Amino acid sequence: MAKQEDQFKKVLSHAKEYGYVFQSSEIYDGLSAVYDYAQNGVELKKNIRDYWWKAMVQMHENIVGIDAAILMHPTTWKASGHVDAFNDPLIDNKDSKKRYRADVLVEDFREKINEKINKDITKAKKRFGDAFNEEEFISTNPNVLRRQKQMDEITVELTRVQEENDLEGFRNLILDLGIVCPVSGSKNWTEVKQFNLMFGTQIGASAENSTQVYLRPETAQGIFVNFLNVQKTGRMKIPFGIAQTGKAFRNEIVARQFIFRMREFEQMEMQFFVKPGTQKEWYEAWKQTRLKWHLSLGMGAENYRFHDHDKLAHYADAAADIEFNFPFGFKELEGIHSRTDFDLSQHEEYSGKKLQYFDHTENKSYVPYVVETSIGLDRMFLAVFSKSLVEEELENGTTRTVLKLPAVLAPYKAAILPLVKKDGLPEVARKIMDELKWDFNVFYDEKDAVGKRYRRQDAAGTPFCITVDHDSLEDDSVTIRHRDTMEQKRVKISDLKAIIKAEVDVKKWLQKM
Ligand code: GAP
Repeated sequence: MAKQEDQFKKVLSHAKEYGYVFQSSEIYDGLSAVYDYAQNGVELKKNIRDYWWKAMVQMHENIVGIDAAILMHPTTWKASGHVDAFNDPLIDNKDSKKRYRADVLVEDFREKINEKINKDITKAKKRFGDAFNEEEFISTNPNVLRRQKQMDEITVELTRVQEENDLEGFRNLILDLGIVCPVSGSKNWTEVKQFNLMFGTQIGASAENSTQVYLRPETAQGIFVNFLNVQKTGRMKIPFGIAQTGKAFRNEIVARQFIFRMREFEQMEMQFFVKPGTQKEWYEAWKQTRLKWHLSLGMGAENYRFHDHDKLAHYADAAADIEFNFPFGFKELEGIHSRTDFDLSQHEEYSGKKLQYFDHTENKSYVPYVVETSIGLDRMFLAVFSKSLVEEELENGTTRTVLKLPAVLAPYKAAILPLVKKDGLPEVARKIMDELKWDFNVFYDEKDAVGKRYRRQDAAGTPFCITVDHDSLEDDSVTIRHRDTMEQKRVKISDLKAIIKAEVDVKKWLQKM
C-alpha cells in the first residue's frame, strides 16, 4: 500500500514537473478537483482522443460523430432523470465540519477489510513457500472467512440502503460499523442527505427573464436528442452508432485522487442503436471490442478486469465497468451499459416528438435500444501516464526515470539534438526538424550535455532522440536512440521518417485490436 501511495505521489509531481498537468488557478491556491492540461498534457490528451475516435468512428462505417453543445434545454435533464435522481448521499462530521459521501465511507471501510485479507494471504505465501495453495487458504482460513463474511454483509446492506434510498439506514450502517471521521477521529455524524451533482446556471440577462439551465453531467444526452436528426440526414440503418467527445461537469463532493475524479472532465461516449431484443449480444460484443482497444496499447492484460454491476440503474438491463489497476488499486475506467429504450422513450414523452426508427426489413417502427460505451478521457490519461512512469536501475548502478508512453500517444515523437551548439550542427538539426515536423510533433533541444538531454526526453516520454554530430556533416547520417531500450543506431537522415513512422503509426497499434 505504501508503495502504491509512493508511486501515486511520483505521478503527481512528475505530471507537474514535465508540463503535463497543473492545478487550475494555481497562483490563487487552486480550485479543488479542477485541473489544467499543460503543453505536454494537451498533446497526450489529444492523442488519446484521436486514438479513440479513429477506433470508434473512422474504423466503423456505421458509426458517425457529433459535437453537441454543453448547454441543453433544461427539460433534457428532467427527461433523463438527472434533475430528480442524479444524487450522492452526503454526511457531515459535526466535529471536523468535513463532508463525505456516505457510500464512499462505507466502501473505504470495506476495502480496508479486503486489504487485511490480502495481507493475510501475502504472509501465508511467505510462510508456506511453494507449498502454498491460495484457493484452499481463502476457503478455509478462519480469519479470511470471517473477514469475507463481514465484507459480504456490508455489501448486502449498502446495496439495500442505496436501492431503497433509506437515508436513516445509511447513517445506521455507518454508526454500526464504527466508522470514524478521518480528520477528527470522531463518530459524531449528521443525518445523510441527498445532494444533486449538476451545476446549474442561468441563461438570460435579468433575474425575471432568466432560465435555469445546467452544465451537462454527461455527453450522452446530446446524442439522444439528436438521434433522429443524425439517422435521417446520415440515412443510417440500424444497428448504428453516434460518437461524441466533450466536457462534462459534476459537482463531485469527494474530490480527490487527482484527475481520477474531477468537477470538469471530458468523456468519450458512443451510443449504439440496435433492434430491441438484440441488445444482449451487442452489449457482449462492445465489452470485448472496448477491452481490445485498451489492450492494443500494450499496458498489460493483468491491469484490466471487468466488474459486472449487481446493482443496475433503473434504465439498464446490463452494465459493466472496465476497471484499471491505478496506483491506488483497481477502479472504474470505462462503463459499458445496455440502456434499453429508456432515454429515447423519455425524450419522446417529454418532447412530444416521435423518436422512432422505421425498420424496412421488419416493416415497422420502434424505439431502438441502446448500448453505450463511456470512458473518461482524463481517467484514461491517468491510466496511461501512471502505468508508463517507471524508475529503472541501470547496469552502471544509476537509475533513470522514464515515461514509457505508448509511442502512438507520446506528445513528441522525436527530439532533435545537435551534439554541440556550433560547427554547423544546429543548422543540420534544424533542417531535419523542418522536414520531420510535417509528419510528427518534434522537439528541438541544444542545451546541456547530450546525456542530460537524453534523460530529459526519457522523463518527458519522447520515444526517439536524434543526435546530429560532426560525422553527420560528412555522411548525412545521425544517431537515433530508442527511449525504452536506450539502443543507439547510426541511420541515414533520409530514412528517419520511415523509422519513426514504423513505431508511431496509428495503424500499427490499432491493428492489434
Ligand atoms: N453516460 C454514462 C455515464 O456518464 P458514468 O459511469 O457516470 O456514465 C462514464 O461515467 C465515465 O466517465 C466513467 O467511467 C469515468 O471514466 C468518467 N467519469 C465519470 N465521472 C468522472 C469524474 N468526476 N471525473 C473524471 N472522470 C469521470
